[in-house]
Amino acid sequence: MLRNRRFWLLLMLGMLVLTGAGYFALVRTTRQWFASDLALRTKLAVEAAGESLESHWHDSPDALRRTLASLTRDERIMAAAACSAGGMMLAASDAYPESFSCEALLHRARWGNSVNQRWSFESDLPSGRVHLGIVPMRDSSGGGFVVLVHDLSYLDRREATTRWLLVAGFLAVTLGAVLLTMMAARIAWRDWTQSLRNALGGNSRAEFLPLLRDVHEMAERLSTERNLEQVGGRWSPERLRATLRQHLDGERIVVLANREPYMHQKTATGMKVLHPASGLVTALEPVMRACSGVWVAHGSGSGDRDTVDEHDRVAVPPHAPAYQLRRVWLSDAEENGYYYGFANEGLWPLCHVAHARPTFRADDWTHYVAVNQKFADAVCDEVDVEDPIILVQDYHFALAPKMIRARLPHATILTFWHTPWPNAERIGICPWREELIEGLLGSSIVGFHTQQHCNNFVDSVDAFVESRIDRETKTIVQGERRTVVRPYPISIEWPVHWLSEVAPVAEARSLVRKELGLPDNALLGIGVDRLDYTKGIEERLLAVDELLLRYPEFRGRFTFVQLAAPSRTKIERYRELNDRVEAVAAKINETWGSGSYQPIILLRAHHEPVDVFRFYRAAEICYVSSLHDGMNLVAKEFVAARNDEQGVLVLSQFTGAARELTEALIVNPYDLRHASDALAVGLKMPADEQRERMRSMRRLVAEFNVYRWAGHMLVDAAEVRRKERMFGRFPKRPSHKAVR
Ligand code: G6P
Repeated sequence: MLRNRRFWLLLMLGMLVLTGAGYFALVRTTRQWFASDLALRTKLAVEAAGESLESHWHDSPDALRRTLASLTRDERIMAAAACSAGGMMLAASDAYPESFSCEALLHRARWGNSVNQRWSFESDLPSGRVHLGIVPMRDSSGGGFVVLVHDLSYLDRREATTRWLLVAGFLAVTLGAVLLTMMAARIAWRDWTQSLRNALGGNSRAEFLPLLRDVHEMAERLSTERNLEQVGGRWSPERLRATLRQHLDGERIVVLANREPYMHQKTATGMKVLHPASGLVTALEPVMRACSGVWVAHGSGSGDRDTVDEHDRVAVPPHAPAYQLRRVWLSDAEENGYYYGFANEGLWPLCHVAHARPTFRADDWTHYVAVNQKFADAVCDEVDVEDPIILVQDYHFALAPKMIRARLPHATILTFWHTPWPNAERIGICPWREELIEGLLGSSIVGFHTQQHCNNFVDSVDAFVESRIDRETKTIVQGERRTVVRPYPISIEWPVHWLSEVAPVAEARSLVRKELGLPDNALLGIGVDRLDYTKGIEERLLAVDELLLRYPEFRGRFTFVQLAAPSRTKIERYRELNDRVEAVAAKINETWGSGSYQPIILLRAHHEPVDVFRFYRAAEICYVSSLHDGMNLVAKEFVAARNDEQGVLVLSQFTGAARELTEALIVNPYDLRHASDALAVGLKMPADEQRERMRSMRRLVAEFNVYRWAGHMLVDAAEVRRKERMFGRFPKRPSHKAVR
């Protein structure tokens, strides 16, 4: 509509400009014509009266006046005068204007005392505009000249008439153009809709399906976006809750994730609550606090059994309960086969390009299937409607979506894969690749961190299972079942609630330096990871080694602290990594250490979030060197911690985070020289540049926080559910079934 209005305005304006230009060109040309016409008339008139004028020129002023008067009988010649060469008026007709004295005309023409060529000009008199034509007489008059004054008022009248004609013409043409365009558009529209109607009514409906689908989808997307905007503002727990209320009637959600958010641990001093080091937990826990519901997880803490109720549930967070944690117990054999074996020796190395060879054992697979079924059953026991919303998390539960669907066909199952999804060729290594993919296709939506991972998944489906793939809508159709594949880049809560318990930057700096026995002016680098070979911890330490080798100014001044949480230590490859990291750190310390100075401080222990955030705040630089990482939330946490807008993030190009945090110093962690240069640049970076980069990253993480991640997934889930209900696959309102 707006575009149309602008088009018409521009059209009118264009026509107006053209008409104006035409009008001025016309007036100029006709004036030129009139001027030369008048000059000719003057010449002819004077020539016609030439003999009479000459005969009376010198001796008979009365006769000369009569001759001049006879010239004025022409209706356009107002007056005439005869002037001598010296500028004396010899005779003039009655109405000759005084202002055009012979002397004044000579002066104006700058001819000196004689006139030797024809000349004309226009002038204004109170009575109107006049044209003066001056014609020199022949030699017998001694250089005198005749002046004829023409009335030009008729010219003004003609111009006015022309102007009106043009304006009327312009209006008529514009109106005509508008009417013609409207008629043409109407006819075209009528023809188009008629043919569309015919087509849709006939057999060729299929031809228009892509078009209809596009229009339909666009309308839906716009309405979803508008709905999201209506709730408004930056994503927060409140906005997430409001979204849940608006789109899903405030239903509780059920999360299935292997790792639990709170782990009860028996210690010598009593029961302790631990917050496991896990990107998944970091992201999902704030979402659950905001939404409430149930989190189904493996109860792996030594005190877990002692803290649940008779239904194996415990309300968490312990000091401000907001949702239920349902613990599922696994035997050692189950844990070994499902978690350590298939999930972490098979799928984990399969999904990460980190040069660890995946190991697939049939026994592990059997446990993986059985444990997936166990968890799927636990989930089904926790729901209280026929069409619950279930969020399945990560590579531990590739089979669970299909198993849940078998019991709850109307569930909206949203599966998020927290690790990368490799290309089809690599997935082909897994002997149970078809089962894994089929299992995931039990989901309504499968989400990955990046579009690349989505593409890899769709390619894998294409390569290994029977289905129809709609690549445009990224939907996989198997019979009645549709699975949408979408990217949802994960993030962290904003603001991070732990930060309220952490000392401000200056205090954290001096506290940490004191704790580590470092001088106040020591430069500090930080790395925070589970001890996992995908994190590139060895490469990170070797980059520090390279830095000290190539930039001697940092020797004795720069210390790198690695917080390394022991992880999956039952697996040989992890134990090996542990030894290798320790050896590399010892070697570097041996090379560059002196006295109390140790360039690498390896803190191999679980650190609670408050400690981790204190270290983030104390450091000059944070190096995330993953060899392959779906997203990496350590990078985002470092940014969140730095409310002083200082600190430099050096980030591996192989993390999902590198696509978002583009103001970090992006490096290839395998390229030690490059990485050490980046560390040096970071340590020397002026405060202003640090501020600029950090500010920009903070804006991004604040905006694209985990509530937005969850919000978008839940809105998409609501959309899927709405469509399924619309197509009548199940009743409009879920009938509640009391499970417990
Ligand atoms: C990664 C995985 C998570 C896992 C976390 C910690 O982030 O994607 O699913 O929870 O590592 O590993 P863990 O084996 O200790 O749960």
